[in-house]
Amino acid sequence: MAIKNIILTGFMGTGKSTIGQLVATQLQRDFIDMDALIEQREGRTINQIFTESDEPYFRQLEAELCRELAGQEGLIIATGGGALIPEANLRVMEQTGLVVCLTCSPNTLWQRIGQSEDRPMLAEQNEGRFARLSALLEQRAPAYARINHQLDVTHLSPEEAARRVSELAEKST
Ligand code: S3P
Repeated sequence: MAIKNIILTGFMGTGKSTIGQLVATQLQRDFIDMDALIEQREGRTINQIFTESDEPYFRQLEAELCRELAGQEGLIIATGGGALIPEANLRVMEQTGLVVCLTCSPNTLWQRIGQSEDRPMLAEQNEGRFARLSALLEQRAPAYARINHQLDVTHLSPEEAARRVSELAEKST
């Protein structure tokens, strides 16, 4: 029987990569960070992809990578925060994997990523960065809410969050 992938998704700053890496170590599985893989294949950073190409180009790369990774098994995958916003990408990942959406309070997210310079989706606009973050959270809430498994990591250490994800994966096999 195929070993399901475990896919961690959720807003920027929820800790997908850190927690995913820990889950992979705990379960002795391979870890894929979608953003890092895209950067490696493109030979440029996410910021450069957004500015030299554009957001639709990046979203196309994400959509293709979702299909490619869903065709493999046993992986622990951290998506970029917007990767599973299109429902088709979520459905393709769900076909062969357990998708977990990490959530976190806006204030904690702000503390973590408010000053981040490598998040083009938070690029300064007229309304200011905190308003931008809040608007994006609100806009994406319905898409994140479609995901069956939700884990609020606001008060969890990365280790504790990873343990809960591993438990969830054990229960769902
Ligand atoms: C994005 C999140 C980023 C990265 C890109 C777009 C988004 O990943 O994929 O900047 O649309 O939310 P992280 O969630 O790892 O920051």
